[in-house]
Amino acid sequence: MALRTIRQMGDEVLTKKCREIKEVTPRIKELIEDMLETMYEANGVGLAAPQVGILKRLVVIDIGEGPIVLINPVIVETDGSQTGEEGCLSLPGKSGVVTRPNYVKVRAYDEDMQQYEIEGTELLARAFCHEIDHLDGHMYVEKVEGELHDVVYEEEEEV
Ligand code: NI
Repeated sequence: MALRTIRQMGDEVLTKKCREIKEVTPRIKELIEDMLETMYEANGVGLAAPQVGILKRLVVIDIGEGPIVLINPVIVETDGSQTGEEGCLSLPGKSGVVTRPNYVKVRAYDEDMQQYEIEGTELLARAFCHEIDHLDGHMYVEKVEGELHDVVYEEEEEV
């Protein structure tokens, strides 16, 4: 396992659309392990492959309940809304208010390329939306209501 460099906003790779993964090769397995390690090291709750410079539809998330690996994730259902602070490891030290669905169901593939569905509310729902946006070249700053501001306390989650 190895730490990867987290690309920062302004890097073109964060504006590109990612390609689907057709097969979980040893290189993809290594990428998943590296992304988890990189996310934990940065105290993030989510990381998308383009954030480490890889244009593939792959996301890792851990909101404190164990790692979630999403390959080729698609949002299939949403409900309600939540408005709250959001940050990103590709824009450290900043956050802004974003409205997201309060419930999100995602269909994705696991590391054995088995399709599964996973549901989340609150922070997990927010992380699903934020990370899947990264796969299409979008940053949360495009959705911020009002101004971006400096993070005022260290525990704020960055995805
Ligand atoms: Ni992010």
